[in-house]
Amino acid sequence: MMEKSGLRVLGIETSCDECAVAIVEDGSKILSNVVATQIPHHTPYQGVVPEIASRLHTEWIVPVTQRALDEASLNLDQIDAIAVANRPGLLGSLLVGVSFAKGLAATLEKPLIGIDHIRAHLYASQIEHPLQYPYLGVLVSGGHTIICRVEDYDTLEVLGTTIDDAIGEAFDKVAKHYQMGYPGGVVIDRLAKDGDPHAFLFPGPKLKSQLDLSYSGLKTAVINQAELFRSEGAEATPENIAASFQRTAINILMKRIKRALEETQLTRLAVGGGVAANSLLREEVQALKGVEVAFPSPKLCTDNGAMIAALAYRYLKDGVQSPLTLQTMARVKAFKKSYP
Ligand code: KG4
Ligand code: ZN
Repeated sequence: MMEKSGLRVLGIETSCDECAVAIVEDGSKILSNVVATQIPHHTPYQGVVPEIASRLHTEWIVPVTQRALDEASLNLDQIDAIAVANRPGLLGSLLVGVSFAKGLAATLEKPLIGIDHIRAHLYASQIEHPLQYPYLGVLVSGGHTIICRVEDYDTLEVLGTTIDDAIGEAFDKVAKHYQMGYPGGVVIDRLAKDGDPHAFLFPGPKLKSQLDLSYSGLKTAVINQAELFRSEGAEATPENIAASFQRTAINILMKRIKRALEETQLTRLAVGGGVAANSLLREEVQALKGVEVAFPSPKLCTDNGAMIAALAYRYLKDGVQSPLTLQTMARVKAFKKSYP
């Protein structure tokens, strides 16, 4: 008798500079997770160039999908549904993934499901470490900094968000200014290990809403006014700047996380997004007392197709799918639900 296979979803993620395709069975078994990074192509510009990103996605999407199938030892007929990140992100990049996904879904006559990239990051930790709902969700990436109450895989209540720059953006811009390397977050995390976090005493923001965040003031202080905040006798080395900036950036976030836990009385917390790979943040969050914490493993923190496929499984199980007219969206406002 033939063994009955699970529900296999192919997840496509092309919202920014990673061309990623994964195959996930039954929502948690990752059969393949291919991430082709464009980082070397954007490094000369020290930031993502949208035109280059979409052109590379166009060239790479077919071979990356083939590789995901090969690594899972599957062919397209053995895929049960196609999921794709359709919002938010760089429009030209999103369009490549979404057009390709529509083509696959139409030819294979399989369900198509459009996934909100933000909800996918907030769900990524759940693949390996499922928490009971509700939990406090913290999304920290290059484009977003959001603290929210997560009611279920689709329902969010945003409690606080950045009023200007995203936390990852601040890491990237500081690293770019001091020519530390690219991408900034990884480099600062590494340099900070050899620096003194008290060499510079950078200020944090004072905001009306206690759960909102701001990173543009810190970024400006580090880039334009570092000397003003230098401790006596401390040297202005890249390591000291990195450690002091990182310490302040994570302090700003931790203060809000602690306040949100107190206010909501939630005892579970999931972190997601590229900055969730940050070693200081991981250390500080793990040290929180009386809170069950879920972090994605490093490969699931940054953009990947597995989080898209895993989250799509939940919608499919609830009978939700997208029409072939699925649209892309560069921005999403804080919708409480992404599907009706
Ligand atoms: O989630 P992601 O891959 O893309 C977006 O949706 O934005 O996040 C990328 C961001 C970049 O800003 C990058 O510098 C940051 O995540 N990042 C880090 C670390 N690794 C990646 N930031 C701090 N520490 C890290 N270890
Ligand atoms: Zn992302």
